[in-house]
Amino acid sequence: MGLSPLEVKEKIKNLSWENKDKYVEWRRHIHMYPELSGQEVETAKFVADKLREIGVDTVIENFGGTTAVVGLIKGKHDITVALRADMDALPMQEKRDVPYKSRVPNVMHSCGHDAHTAILLGAADVLVKMKDHLQGNVKLIFQPCEERMDCDGAKKLIKEGVLENPKVSAIFGVHMFPELPIGKVGTRIGNFMASADIFRVKIKGKGSHASRPHMGVDPILIASQTINSLHHIVSRKVDPLHPAVLTVGKISGGFAENIIPDEVEFAGTVRTFDMELRKQIPKWMEHTIWGTTLSYGGAYEFEYTEGTPPVINDEKTTKFAISMMRDLLGKDAVVELEHPSMGGEDFGEYLLHVPGTFIRLGIRNEEKGITAPLHSSLFDIDEDVIPIGVSVMSYLAFKWVEEHA
Ligand code: NI
Repeated sequence: MGLSPLEVKEKIKNLSWENKDKYVEWRRHIHMYPELSGQEVETAKFVADKLREIGVDTVIENFGGTTAVVGLIKGKHDITVALRADMDALPMQEKRDVPYKSRVPNVMHSCGHDAHTAILLGAADVLVKMKDHLQGNVKLIFQPCEERMDCDGAKKLIKEGVLENPKVSAIFGVHMFPELPIGKVGTRIGNFMASADIFRVKIKGKGSHASRPHMGVDPILIASQTINSLHHIVSRKVDPLHPAVLTVGKISGGFAENIIPDEVEFAGTVRTFDMELRKQIPKWMEHTIWGTTLSYGGAYEFEYTEGTPPVINDEKTTKFAISMMRDLLGKDAVVELEHPSMGGEDFGEYLLHVPGTFIRLGIRNEEKGITAPLHSSLFDIDEDVIPIGVSVMSYLAFKWVEEHA
């Protein structure tokens, strides 16, 4: 017996809210035992155990030699949608005093990946309970290492075939968002989050006594001129209609007031949405660094590392997501976000290969004191977002395979 569209919606909503306590408990467990990027061993074990308990058809641990867990719920037809959650925490001390406070010193889930993981587990639970009516497959991707570039995140999983076998036709992911109040969800078509690349520059001069600058080559002066010039790239070289950010976030060098050092190092990040611009900016940077350094008689090293690509939400999947979320949560609950963010997120890697949509879930609640931004030591969520997220992810997956079967 098939369910009517109204019955599907009500059932998914009811299951998500009836099991709220259980899903919140999962979130709190993960929150108490956070693990850093690339080290999500216990979290992955917890996830795999829960997926088996729930009755997910296939559970693969250590996918592609990483700590990723990939599950598959099999539906009636040969169409597959993927849902993705990230699992890693950040190297910082939690300062908010709650019973589920991090038990691990200097490690904290301050980006809400604990909630993302619990929400995806909840969605797996709901979808398995709806399996008799599920028209296609749902792939569950529990991804490690979203927060860092130096371990294996989305890119590695894709290389190892996470979007194949069965082939994924669309992907959806969610993220906690303190700028929206609890009960609201937001997304937008197109530019959503920027690419996030990093660079490192070493300026080499010649050390000397501070009182005899003519006998040396001052790398501090060259570095300051270079940084100054680099900041002109966005304002003078980049088309003002294309957003870009170049920030120097770190500088080090020197020993004392009376010494001109041999070298100075600085590092920073470049953000944009435009793939052409992303290729061009490092070339302009090197010209600037080369020219400035040369004019003072110094030398340089320049390293530019491509990080995550921009998150560009596909038009079709995003229109689908917006209309489904309006149907599920009510018209007013869904916000079409006016602006993208210059933040980075490796969900963009998946979107280079498969259409999909990234969604922000509101978590702010002044009455409960939930106002801290992401990556703050006081970060927390209104846990009502867990059943909301579970219902959103389940509903998107269920309806996507139904409409495309
Ligand atoms: Ni995050």
